[in-house]
Amino acid sequence: MAKQKNIQSVLHEERKFAPPAAFARKANLKSKDLDALYARAANDYVGFWSDLAREEIVWQRPFTRELDDTEAPNFRWFTDGFLNVSYNCLDVHLAERGDKTAIIFEGEPGDTRRISYRELHGQVCQFANVLKQQGVNKGDRVVIYMPLIPEAVIAMQACARIGAVHSVVFGGFSAHSLADRINDAGARLLITADGGWRGGHSVELKAAADKALEAGCPTIERVIVYRRTGRPCVMRSGRDSWWHELAAGQRIQCEPEWVDAEHPLYLLYTSGSTGKPKGIQHASAGYLLQTKLTSRWVFDLKDDDVFWCTADVGWVTGHSYVAYGPLAAGTTLLMYEGAPTYPDGGRFWKICQEHGVTILYTAPTAIRALMRLGDEVPKKYDLSRLRLLGSVGEPINPEAWMWYHRVIGAGRCPIVDTWWQTETGAIMMTPVPGVTATKPGSCTRPLPGIFADIVDDEGRSVNKVGAGGYLVIKRPWPSMLRTIWGDNERYLNTYWEKFHNRFYVAGDSAHRDADGYYWIMGRIDDVLNVAGHRLGTMEIESALVAHVHVAEAAVVGRQHEIKGESVFAYVVLNKARPQGAAADALADELRRWVADQLSPIARPDDIHFTDNLPKTRSGKIMRRLLRALARGEAITQDVSTLENPAILEQLRGAKHSPSAAPAKKATPKAKVKAARKPPRKTAVKKRPAKPARRGESKRR
Ligand code: WTA
Repeated sequence: MAKQKNIQSVLHEERKFAPPAAFARKANLKSKDLDALYARAANDYVGFWSDLAREEIVWQRPFTRELDDTEAPNFRWFTDGFLNVSYNCLDVHLAERGDKTAIIFEGEPGDTRRISYRELHGQVCQFANVLKQQGVNKGDRVVIYMPLIPEAVIAMQACARIGAVHSVVFGGFSAHSLADRINDAGARLLITADGGWRGGHSVELKAAADKALEAGCPTIERVIVYRRTGRPCVMRSGRDSWWHELAAGQRIQCEPEWVDAEHPLYLLYTSGSTGKPKGIQHASAGYLLQTKLTSRWVFDLKDDDVFWCTADVGWVTGHSYVAYGPLAAGTTLLMYEGAPTYPDGGRFWKICQEHGVTILYTAPTAIRALMRLGDEVPKKYDLSRLRLLGSVGEPINPEAWMWYHRVIGAGRCPIVDTWWQTETGAIMMTPVPGVTATKPGSCTRPLPGIFADIVDDEGRSVNKVGAGGYLVIKRPWPSMLRTIWGDNERYLNTYWEKFHNRFYVAGDSAHRDADGYYWIMGRIDDVLNVAGHRLGTMEIESALVAHVHVAEAAVVGRQHEIKGESVFAYVVLNKARPQGAAADALADELRRWVADQLSPIARPDDIHFTDNLPKTRSGKIMRRLLRALARGEAITQDVSTLENPAILEQLRGAKHSPSAAPAKKATPKAKVKAARKPPRKTAVKKRPAKPARRGESKRR
């Protein structure tokens, strides 16, 4: 049955779009170039990457060792080479394009700034000197908790310049989440802002940072605060300093710290299938190489392009395609601080028009939200400078793809649907815009040097058209994660154990069509993708049970028209189940609670109070059953093993959802039997003696 659905969905999507001839003629990569790259990589992938690393990176000391696999799957690349990432993003451009605009910034209130490469270089150097003066040394961790403003990029680049390891925490994360990440990384310094503008409101970042530090972040010695909103905020003397005051006294030159190729560039925390976020650790040279190359290959960057990647620097997309790749490629990039619909749904298109954006890279959630406002909104703006569109972070449904193509791209712009992950560092599978014919909803094929495959439970390639399996990468690549910070065991277990260290397991399922195109089907672990943001179900469950009235919780995903997926929580209380208005009030309280404990992104749309969770006689939560119930699907699985069958009726009953409109029935998500994990043993349960508080468990 599931297979049948897969095949049907493939047959259903038969539309195919050849690259527009005008685009293809001028493309950086032509068909013959791409063929040559594939041939070279197939022949000798280590030599392929090493040659590119020699050509693309300015080395202070060239490397002689290419791939080191002695401790595989902890792979290392170009190990005896020395370089500096910030030097490769800034200094290398000064002679030829020092006056070229590096960043065009637009704040949500409408303020704009243009920063040339020379100015950016000066500001990065100046802030690098600030960091040094504050006692930050090579290898120290620095947490950055900022709005999407140029100073976030300056802070990241300044860390890279002195060999400090940054860990950016998305400004939408709560104080609790921030504290968890600071403590896991053992950061010495925190860089934040008084606030940032989002949706017409100021997001009070400094206040949240203070709350995090009060909760206990013993490693933080100093806090640097950038003044963005000008709203009053409390500065603690001896600990907090203003960015502008510290910078004023510093020189705009700073000799880069030359680091070895494997020196960690950054940590970025991402959700996994357990409650604790993973600190994904990236190395310097390999990451720089692939973000630079993919910026050029996939986005076809030319000297006069204005490239807008809408991602926040709190996510990997904002690292690879805002802070590093486009700068390494010498591009003009656009940064916009605020919400896509502020003050109205035309904001994105107005920005494209006013700044002459030529390449737009955004997420399906944004596309769907803007599509819903109707074609008239973008039609009011001149989008004729656009020549290439990109999508990232979640599967794009064909309807949204077609709208993007037709209304935003006027049928003229290729769409690159790019598949990759925090862990992969750079784009892995994507159309190459001047070469690959695209199909709505498919990320098409792996780039040269990337050896992806789809395998079954035994690790055998699945070659049958439309049959799904685990998406794996069979050979190491330079921008791959190196480990999970402080937990290499977890690195091995999460990504390698399943197939005995032979392949990297992405955690997604996929199938291939007759053209060999890949179609991503979704996560196979307990990870949700809400509006392109990865959330672990366990993290949300832990947050829920930390509430005084919650005894047990199980979280599943439900399809959502705009966000792709939304959070659906089944909650067992440690008191009588409330009814009517009391239930609504408690559901609202729990939503606020989750937003506060984790992030507003994690807020459950639906909360269903129940006396019990459906369990097998051996005590396993029947998650597939909960998922089917949440999605309003027919229950096809055997419920005879259910310990408490009476609970089914209660679970079907009314839920508490703020959006009265039920989610539109989306295209059936194909499921693969082979790629399905057994249900997790338990839901998150409150420990009777000492309630599990988020964060506390981590601090031990
Ligand atoms: C999903 C974001 C379908 C996928 C760069 C992956 C996608 C997870 C696509 C990584 C795409 C990303 N089509 N699904 N083009 N891109 N995903 O770490 O499930 O935030 O595993 O990195 O997003 O999310 P992450």
